[in-house]
Amino acid sequence: MLKLVRWDYASPFRFVSSEGQIMAKISKVGVVGSGNMGQGIAQVAAQAGYGVVLFDVAAAQLERATGNIQKSLAKLEEKGKLKESPSAISGRLKISTRLEDLKSCDMVIEAATENREVKFKLFRDLDALLSKEALLLTNTSSISITEIARQTSRPDRVAGMHFMNPVPLMTLVEGIRGMQTSEETFKTAREVAEAMGKIFIEAKDAPGFVVNRILIPMLNEAFFALQESLATAKDIDQAMKLGCNFPMGPFELADFVGLDVCLAVTEVLYKDLGDSKYRPCPLLRKYVEAGWTGRKSGRGVYVY
Ligand code: CAA
Repeated sequence: MLKLVRWDYASPFRFVSSEGQIMAKISKVGVVGSGNMGQGIAQVAAQAGYGVVLFDVAAAQLERATGNIQKSLAKLEEKGKLKESPSAISGRLKISTRLEDLKSCDMVIEAATENREVKFKLFRDLDALLSKEALLLTNTSSISITEIARQTSRPDRVAGMHFMNPVPLMTLVEGIRGMQTSEETFKTAREVAEAMGKIFIEAKDAPGFVVNRILIPMLNEAFFALQESLATAKDIDQAMKLGCNFPMGPFELADFVGLDVCLAVTEVLYKDLGDSKYRPCPLLRKYVEAGWTGRKSGRGVYVY
């Protein structure tokens, strides 16, 4: 079982990069936020051999995350996809409700709620807490990396590392350089993603990066199609699964990602790109207003 602990780490080994930057060898990874994305990132980091501290303000959410990680590891073991036993992997993973327990991490990956002010404050707090060499990564799906980096005194050591849901199964990580990100920071982000078994692609720091710039308008369009009664939700899903070989229909996927997340990303695309083609569908907004945010709340377009 994972336990709530306080950690006292030895100082990480440090070296000077080709840019003259002092870099910390990554051995301890902190993850902020234990929702779907955070718990998946913590899991793949532990699978890759890093010591991991998963932080969340909510103890109950951390307990849920722990249960989900155990289930996921058991499933992967059953399929022969783990190099070590689930207990060896989860032995490297600690959970904590104290941000200070991230203090000696060499790298922190933030996967908190998709809200600018929340992320900005977290980056300021992490910047004050961590060693000067530590790297700060964000799993934001749409917020400017450049602006997040600006909240810190180490903007060169900040970059985007955008994982896909479900993190243990999806191979892609989008790497995003802010204006200030150094080569060494970006190279380390790539190395860490690859150590986690992921394929790293480089995306520009523009709203939605690559995946969400294309995926989210497609999901939003599916809500317009439903609003206009083009077909039932089930038939729209069938159409896209059978007609395009998508593993999930747009509503199954939107429920899986979270309708609140879909709406938040749509709002960012609409506001930052300033083009009416990104306007959120009123029906999507209504679902979110009803609290029908998808699988996580037991109801989205479908009832679970
Ligand atoms: N860990 C381990 N195993 C898992 C798992 C997890 N987290 N989640 C599912 N599985 C297992 C299931 O238990 C199942 O096992 P069995 O074969 O033993 O039954 C197996 O994986 C296959 O799952 P399913 O049968 O439920 O469904 P599937 O074959 O459709 O595969 C999927 C699941 C990989 C999620 C697939 O449906 C898929 O690729 N869907 C699309 C996902 C996608 O597009 N993600 C990107 C979202 S966008 C995003 O993340 C960016 C953003 O910012 C919004």
